[in-house]
Amino acid sequence: MLPLYLDNNATTPVDPEVIRVMTKCLRDNYGNPSSSHDRGLEAKQVLENARVKVAQLIGALPDEIVFTSGGTESNNMAILGTASRFQSGHIISSCIEHPSVANPVKHLEGLGFEVTYLPVDRHGIVSPDHLKKQITAKTVLITVMHANNETGTIQPISEIGTIAREKGIPFHCDAAQSVGKIPVHVRRLKTDLMTIVSHKFYGPKGTGALYIKQGIKLKAIMFGASHEKGLRPGTENIPSIAGLGKACELAGDGIKKRGDDMKTLTRFFYNELRRQVPGMKLNGHPTKRLPNTLNISFPGVQGSMLLHRLKHDIEASTGSACHEGTHTPSSVLSAMGLGKTEALGAVRLSLGRNTSERQIKKAVKAIVKAYRSF
Ligand SMILES: Cc1ncc(COP(=O)(O)O)c(C=O)c1O
Repeated sequence: MLPLYLDNNATTPVDPEVIRVMTKCLRDNYGNPSSSHDRGLEAKQVLENARVKVAQLIGALPDEIVFTSGGTESNNMAILGTASRFQSGHIISSCIEHPSVANPVKHLEGLGFEVTYLPVDRHGIVSPDHLKKQITAKTVLITVMHANNETGTIQPISEIGTIAREKGIPFHCDAAQSVGKIPVHVRRLKTDLMTIVSHKFYGPKGTGALYIKQGIKLKAIMFGASHEKGLRPGTENIPSIAGLGKACELAGDGIKKRGDDMKTLTRFFYNELRRQVPGMKLNGHPTKRLPNTLNISFPGVQGSMLLHRLKHDIEASTGSACHEGTHTPSSVLSAMGLGKTEALGAVRLSLGRNTSERQIKKAVKAIVKAYRSF
């Protein structure tokens, strides 16, 4: 039997309905959406239908959605596309961003932009008050993620959005981990730019979108023909975009109830483990978190070694990086104040839509047995 897949924050399987839509599209809608004959117009219709579905999931207008190749490209487009409107300036980000945000920001720092990296508290949350104090007359962009990929902790995005709007500063939010898992509404969150990643919610990999609020200006970072308002030149990946559209439709359907059920199951998982593993610690905010994510430090054992021993039972991940046999603790957990041993003891268990209570009971048994074997 295959091990239980508990790495849904890394990626999810593709939903069978999404596969059906994509297969049909690959077979039937091969036209180029820029062509003016019927085959082209048909493909264009598929593209625009998907745009409507993405927009509906996040409360945006279809015209505010640009399709990309995924989270990394959406983040680069938002950050570099905003900053390159200016010769120089100040950017505010946080110290727990995904590398696809952190590295474009670092690149801009190398070009002479000033950057403030907001710290986080022990639960991994940035302070909007602190952020407000960092804003200067030169601030051209604020970029703070919605839910953290390692801990699932959710940032106070609407408060940050309110501050950004008061000051007239463009606000980008990497919502790769939250869209499709919890209700996300761009107007309520007051974001100007938001990253959406298809493969985090049962869509295909290599596809995503950037929400760009009406009136927000970006400079192109890629050059070619005029596709996607000139921001993302190249013939559109119609089957994958159709798959993303379907994934959005499926995610939106009953999202609140699914989230609540998953939260109950995740809590059960955590309580069962805690009962049997003394000294185990939950990393991240106890309540302001994604319903599917548990980041746990196991005392006295490295997360990577525990997972290795569990490899026939569970597939999950640690936030630590392994270079030449030595492990570096996760920068996210370090930023939250965890010591090296505690951070290296962390394991991220991320549940999926179809994870059942029976599977979780089995996982608990396997984890406790593996832990006690050290
Ligand atoms: C928070 C966050 N942002 C961005 C990305 C990048 O997405 P992609 O792999 O589609 O480029 C990920 C994926 O792991 C992520 O978790």
